[in-house]
Amino acid sequence: MSRIYLASTNPGKLRELQEAAQHLAVELELLPGLKSIPPPAEDGQTFEENACIKAEYYSRFVPGERVLAEDSGLSLESLHGAPGVYSARYAAMLKDGKASNTNSSDAENNAALIAQLERLPEEKHAGKYICVIALAQDGKTLGTFQGKVAGELRTIPRGSGGFGYDPLFYFPGLGKTFAELPVEEKRRHSHRGDAFRKFFEWYRAGAHLPARD
Ligand code: IMP
Repeated sequence: MSRIYLASTNPGKLRELQEAAQHLAVELELLPGLKSIPPPAEDGQTFEENACIKAEYYSRFVPGERVLAEDSGLSLESLHGAPGVYSARYAAMLKDGKASNTNSSDAENNAALIAQLERLPEEKHAGKYICVIALAQDGKTLGTFQGKVAGELRTIPRGSGGFGYDPLFYFPGLGKTFAELPVEEKRRHSHRGDAFRKFFEWYRAGAHLPARD
């Protein structure tokens, strides 16, 4: 299978996507020079829109090559879908009362989520992670793939693995938070692993992909 460039600077996502690619023998390399490219504005209303914005934008820097990007986050029905597409900037958004362009730290976001959870009864702590992977070439999206996983959000963090909201994301199937899982076990259950498997099935079939330079 041919090479794909990965466009993400989030170390947690990179670790998980690279592990998933290795597991399925997909050649996934970090996009050359990624850190020196100014990021695009993630101003989509959905995970899918933001994944496409990133994949299309970065693919223009490597003509003829395929670029994979993803957008993901946490969503609680009892918080009307929040943090949603603002998962990375949730603390800043709650503080400023409007959408922020600056990401908050994981610790700040977790503290902001705990404060919201503490106002809700425990039976309203259900939430899900969503991940959309987009593959693009020459500024055009070739395909998008969505993965999901349901869990419960806790107010007391547990575990030191994963990233983001993982210490609060309790997965009843295993009786552990995602931060208590090694990377390969998180892949088997996570939204990102789910999206990557769907991407892989499609990519392996391959017939519908345009020719490369
Ligand atoms: P993005 O970089 O705009 O896609 O923001 C993703 C944000 O969603 C991350 O910064 C985390 O806050 C959250 N998130 C997405 N996936 C995960 C996960 O697997 N574990 C924990 N937090 C996640």
